[in-house]
Amino acid sequence: MFEKRIACIGAGYVGGPTMAMIAMKCPQYKVTVVDVNEARIKAWQTDDLPIYEPGLLEVVQAARGRNLFFSTDINAAIRESEIIFVSVNTPTKTFGEGAGKAADLQYWEKVAREILRESESPKIVVEKSTLPVKTAQTMENILNANDRNIRFDVVSNPEFLAEGTAVKDLLSPDRVLIGSRETPEGLKARQAIVDIYANWVPTERIITSNVWSSELSKLVANAFLAQRISSINSISALCEKTDASVAEVSRAVGMDARIGGRFLNAGVGFGGSCFRKDILNLVYICEGYHLYEVARYWQSVLEMNEYQETRFVRNMVRSMFNTIVGKRIALFGFAFKADTGDTRESPAIHVAKKLLDEKAELVISDPKALDNARIDLAGCGGGIDYVEDPYEAARGVHAVAVLTEWDLYRKLDWGRIYGSMEKPAFVFDGRNILDTRKLFEIGFNVYPLGRPPLKHF
Ligand code: NAD
Ligand code: UGA
Repeated sequence: MFEKRIACIGAGYVGGPTMAMIAMKCPQYKVTVVDVNEARIKAWQTDDLPIYEPGLLEVVQAARGRNLFFSTDINAAIRESEIIFVSVNTPTKTFGEGAGKAADLQYWEKVAREILRESESPKIVVEKSTLPVKTAQTMENILNANDRNIRFDVVSNPEFLAEGTAVKDLLSPDRVLIGSRETPEGLKARQAIVDIYANWVPTERIITSNVWSSELSKLVANAFLAQRISSINSISALCEKTDASVAEVSRAVGMDARIGGRFLNAGVGFGGSCFRKDILNLVYICEGYHLYEVARYWQSVLEMNEYQETRFVRNMVRSMFNTIVGKRIALFGFAFKADTGDTRESPAIHVAKKLLDEKAELVISDPKALDNARIDLAGCGGGIDYVEDPYEAARGVHAVAVLTEWDLYRKLDWGRIYGSMEKPAFVFDGRNILDTRKLFEIGFNVYPLGRPPLKHF
């Protein structure tokens, strides 16, 4: 028999991998991941998982059928579990008060009400989704408004994994954060969650706090990471004007131990489902407390990101003789980062749409993200082809723009690509991963980010 029964509501990029890791590391617990999305649950039951994440299949296979289960029977999972993680989506609200900024909490509240309806015994409800500070309070108010005398404790346990490295991040997290109320019941609930992670995470990396600090820390961590990217991206624009190289600047700056070298890669802009939404949420919360200067400060991180995307496309158009009407352009990479098929908020979406506005024809290439790219660009009009093989994709195009740092693009035979392209041939390296000197010598006009271009005219 299992020592504990854990449920997770939401089988997405976070719910699936985190629960698979808990199940693999804790065979003594039964872990059931549930979702309203039947297709997603079915895919989790096969070896063709619904998300691409290096190493994930092995983790799932180690526990699936033993103590890891995927199901659409949400009510049964709620009833039998003592601990319920909630990992549903919390997108930006698109309607009403706070539209375009506030977190849309409808999925979370719906789940809270389902938990309330189905529960026959006390539960610890764990906020795994990223939520505005003070959400736990609301959830406790909803859950404890029951006349059946069932106790609910809401604990915050934000997830810090990054896509593409989820398995590594879960195996060896920088920290696990668990926030709870500091009442005897709250501390007991906190300990129950600490006990899960202590099965494989060193105790000094499991940190605890009050529930509000925990909720807010998640938003702040994402805001700080995004801020570093916007900071270096702002400098990339200056580098292009001053013959400095942004890679050399970020190396020199990052070697200061107080600054640190990570998250200082200039690029076409940050994407992903969370940075933008979480900063918007932070801005909205600050505005709600009349902290307008604070709100503006964080808003500028997003503005710099939009500037970088726009600047990239403007640079492409200008470099290609101020018109790209009817020109074929290959986009190498559509995922928001390497090693994932996820395209949510990918800079490639914005770049592609802007290029289509300029009446270019596009060939989209990506090893994992073409299905999502088709969905993202559906209805955009204009000529778009989807071609996985980069050599095929580049045939007859005027320009290649690298938008995702897939390793495979570093290793391509760029001479072969040059040979099949229209001339003059352009490469716009939106991720700074190519050997620009070599490409220039092959014959390309090369436009790296944050460095002056190398061109033959
Ligand atoms: P996702 O969209 O991939 O998954 C959410 C899942 O919840 C979906 O499969 C959806 O069908 C399901 N769902 C929604 N309402 C439901 C309901 N009432 N009952 C059952 N299932 C329901 O989202 P995600 O990327 O996994 O993100 C989930 C949360 O984790 C968000 O708050 C996000 O901010 C946060 N987060 C995400 C990442 C990441 O890398 N993607 C990292 C850290 C934190
Ligand atoms: C990010 C955080 O890194 C995670 O800690 C967090 O849990 C997660 O958001 C979340 O809350 O969803 P993720 O978006 O998956 O993870 O990926 P990142 O590695 O952070 O990359 C985000 C974007 O920034 C990508 O588009 C990436 O290409 C870009 N980036 C990253 C840069 O442009 N430069 C860098 O130096 C680093």
